[in-house]
Amino acid sequence: MDRSLAAELRAAVETAREQLRDWLEEGVEAFERSAAQQAAFADVAEPAPAPREPRPARKPREAEPTRTAPAPSVAAPRPFGPHPTLDEVRASLGDCRRCRLAEGRTQLVFGDGNPEADILFVGEGPGEQEDLQGLPFVGRAGELLTQMIERGLGIARRSVYICNIVKCRPPQNRTPLADEVSTCRPFLDGQIDAVRPKVIVALGKPATSLLLGRDVSITRVRGVWQDYRGFAVMPTFHPAFVLRQYTPENRRLVWEDLKSALGRARELGGRFE
Ligand code: URA
Repeated sequence: MDRSLAAELRAAVETAREQLRDWLEEGVEAFERSAAQQAAFADVAEPAPAPREPRPARKPREAEPTRTAPAPSVAAPRPFGPHPTLDEVRASLGDCRRCRLAEGRTQLVFGDGNPEADILFVGEGPGEQEDLQGLPFVGRAGELLTQMIERGLGIARRSVYICNIVKCRPPQNRTPLADEVSTCRPFLDGQIDAVRPKVIVALGKPATSLLLGRDVSITRVRGVWQDYRGFAVMPTFHPAFVLRQYTPENRRLVWEDLKSALGRARELGGRFE
């Protein structure tokens, strides 16, 4: 086979693989067929097709709606100053009803850990256990995250700070929508400004997309240092994805990213129990 064609095919397969990994990371398990696709399949399934009508011209593919949350270009107003404390940020949230997620939550899940932590983890949003207990990452994904922090990195979970891009559980644990994320964003920013960590670890595509201000392929950006308003950001896979795709390779990649985050935080003078 022609070398350049082989290289092109390899690149196409690699791109498709990355896209599949991203979908898996987002928890996508199936796609609904569009009306046009359903019609096409119905067509194929017909046992004895009648003489065919000429096919209508194909509609151009519509862009997928953005399911995750690139950052809005204009920051929403902050109900606190540039150097708030965590208590001030929490107080400004109050019994938040700013978006629809308030309707389905048991309680708001603000954050957990050391208010002066040198590493801050940002996840996506509370799941069932988090919603019940009022603490981030206490379900199965949380157990894995805690294990990675304590057994993997050898530091206490209480020495880091953990929060999410949205503070209320999305229905059926769906990915938070862009307007929910932007409504909650000032409070995440407030938490970051209160804690002022040396390093932020962004867990998964939605958290990474938010901090980077664009829809990212987590497979491409994980393990590569990024910047968010002067804070060093290490993107990695979300622990829920690692649980779903519990392969030695995925565990190794997350392990590499976390080691790199801890190393950088230590180089910058970070201290951990
Ligand atoms: N997944 C998240 O992103 N956050 C949690 O708090 C729990 C699970």
